[in-house]
Amino acid sequence: MNIKITIAIDGYSSTGKSTIAKQLANQLGYVYVDSGAMYRAMTFFAMKNEFISKDHFDVTSLIENLDKAQLKFIYNPSIGFAEMYLNDENIEKAIRTLEVSNFVSQVAAISEVRKKLVTIQKEMGKNKGVVMDGRDIGTVVFTDAEIKIFMTSSAETRAKRRFDELIEKGQEVSYDDVYTNVVARDRVDTTRKDSPLVKADEAIEIDNSNLTKEEQFAIILKLVEEKLRDV
Ligand code: DC
Repeated sequence: MNIKITIAIDGYSSTGKSTIAKQLANQLGYVYVDSGAMYRAMTFFAMKNEFISKDHFDVTSLIENLDKAQLKFIYNPSIGFAEMYLNDENIEKAIRTLEVSNFVSQVAAISEVRKKLVTIQKEMGKNKGVVMDGRDIGTVVFTDAEIKIFMTSSAETRAKRRFDELIEKGQEVSYDDVYTNVVARDRVDTTRKDSPLVKADEAIEIDNSNLTKEEQFAIILKLVEEKLRDV
């Protein structure tokens, strides 16, 4: 089977998009791209340069310095996926903190940031054979993706998942803080002016509140296999 397609997976935060995207990419031998990691990397860049903090956001300085942020994904064979680098520093762990999560929606709302990242994302997907997850992949980045999935589940389920993940990574967080972050990001991500999170008309919606990872994978893989038979 050598025809390659593009798979766009969008949805709310912590809906398990990256889990399913990685499973699909492994199964199909495709490249997996976590576009959220790129927005997190730009947020880390803004924090490091003190453009953003709890009580200020210097949007002008962030925009003026965008070209100083070189983003790269480098595949790590020991974990089976690519890690995020900012100016040659591995920031994979640093971008997964609740602190970055608390600022990322503000940074992701800036059009200049989006323009820079969307350009890189389109380039990464130009030869197809890509599974990319995010918020605007089916609506902006790959409008012609052969498969578009829109993932949902309740805010409580998502907060519990994210909380368990952070605790497992050894981070000290409270469930309430994680829940507050999930709800706040939903609000900013769906109401921003530029590329808000919306379901693409042709996207297939999957609510996985009551699905195991295996059940979800089976449903989506079936959709992909049907599509691959048609193209
Ligand atoms: O997928 P994630 O939770 O790691 O994404 C972090 C944030 O980045 C999310 O709250 C919104 C933003 N984002 C975006 O605006 N567009 C994307 N394609 C991916 C992520």
